[in-house]
Amino acid sequence: MARTKFVAGNWKMNTDKASAVRLAQHVAAGLPAGIEVGIAPPFVYLDAVAQAIASSAVLLGAQDAYFEKNGAFTGEISVEMLKDLNVKFVLTGHSERRHVLGESSAVIEKKAHAIYAAGLTLVHCVGEKLEQRDAGQTFSIVQQQLEELSDSMQDPQRLVIAYEPVWAIGTGRNATDAQAQEVHAYIRSAMAKLWNPDFADRVRIQYGGSMKPENAKGLLGQPDVDGGLIGGASLKAESFLAIAKAGV
Ligand code: PGA
Repeated sequence: MARTKFVAGNWKMNTDKASAVRLAQHVAAGLPAGIEVGIAPPFVYLDAVAQAIASSAVLLGAQDAYFEKNGAFTGEISVEMLKDLNVKFVLTGHSERRHVLGESSAVIEKKAHAIYAAGLTLVHCVGEKLEQRDAGQTFSIVQQQLEELSDSMQDPQRLVIAYEPVWAIGTGRNATDAQAQEVHAYIRSAMAKLWNPDFADRVRIQYGGSMKPENAKGLLGQPDVDGGLIGGASLKAESFLAIAKAGV
């Protein structure tokens, strides 16, 4: 099954309003054909970025969303609010939310369900810490994190898994092509059991963790690597677009 690759930029807590708009404009202007490209700016710049990419095919993403529709949840942003701004995809389970901000698996599960149920594309991040890899627990950790998803999800186009080994995020140390492929193949086989083989075959699995122009071609050339979730290298249009082009 030919899956259209999807490369997304996770800007994290970076940029200011002017540089966010400029970066979005540059990405939109240089967009390659034959691949899906998305950017996830900080919440406060979503509206400005939405306008900057309005006439392009760049997909707007959000880095997080709360699971309740509205109400007394000080500081939180609902999925409905994101839809109002033309957001198309939302991340859940990013390692910084799991391990730096202490988000529990139970909360991640609720967020994932709310995002998918609202009709948006869910980019669900999974990945092991270095000590877990060293202890041979990579597959079981990834399996547990996949089980945060509901097996009633039916549209494989609206589910993306981002495999992001924690030891590779922001460290400059990416997984090798073979390490990425091994875990991506495991994820696809685990999804075939959780859903069914046809569903698993259609879900895109992104690699994330120090992906850059120099290693993108090798990683994106693996049979089960269907795109990338890019942090640091997405903050410059040139490097982000070079990664996207490597996936075409
Ligand atoms: P990185 O981040 O590309 O800076 O390693 C990836 C991510 O956290 O999504």
